[in-house]
Amino acid sequence: MNIESAGESLPLLEGLRTARAMRRLKPDPVPIELIRKVCEAGTFAPSGGNRQPWQFIAVTAPERRAYIASLYRARFREYIRPAVEAALDPTYPDAKRRNMKAAIYLAEHLHEAPVHLFVAGWTRRGAPQSQALFPAIQNILLACRAVGLGASLTTAHRADGEEIDRYLGLDPVKTPSIALIPIGWPKGRFGRPTRRSIDTCFFVDAVPEQVG
Ligand SMILES: Cc1cc2nc3c(=O)[nH]c(=O)nc-3n(C[C@H](O)[C@H](O)[C@H](O)COP(=O)(O)O)c2cc1C
Repeated sequence: MNIESAGESLPLLEGLRTARAMRRLKPDPVPIELIRKVCEAGTFAPSGGNRQPWQFIAVTAPERRAYIASLYRARFREYIRPAVEAALDPTYPDAKRRNMKAAIYLAEHLHEAPVHLFVAGWTRRGAPQSQALFPAIQNILLACRAVGLGASLTTAHRADGEEIDRYLGLDPVKTPSIALIPIGWPKGRFGRPTRRSIDTCFFVDAVPEQVG
């Protein structure tokens, strides 16, 4: 595959409208140069004072992914059990059930994702700067969409944040990881995510009184 031309022709707005969370991934390897390219897209994001506090760590070694996945899976099962149970209830709204099932699938198959991309960043006055990293994270998700890679945003690993940060060679106090983006070639197709209509959340000048 030509890394240089990958993703360069997809119109921006079409890409972002169809960048749903892709959690079912093939185990096939992904060229590390392509991962570098989507991370470079991350570096074009804005950040406060243009401090650019990000660090991107792409975990590819199978035994390292297996370890990370084992922690993620255990925490996911522990914390998200009520949502998991709701997802199994057939009376639960369809879209929510699909979404939750995909999240469960990811938790059970995370080790198969060929790349576990962690986004970490410098703390400021002792606090993690999530807001400085999320624009870069979104750029990465969109760049993955452009080059045809499946990706999704997760943060559940934070429950074991310190342990995982040390495992990645990060100082959990100075540069904690904020997000884990599992990346791989998608099993399914890109498509429009389920979202409420813009008509329910766009206002001019002021929000009418009846809207909460
Ligand atoms: C801050 C944040 C944290 C998230 N953490 C997780 C997570 O730990 N695990 C997971 O499966 N999805 C996680 N998600 C992904 C959302 O669940 C996902 O965007 C949502 O299901 C919508 O999917 P869709 O774009 O396909 O509609 C997170 C999303 C955000 C914005």
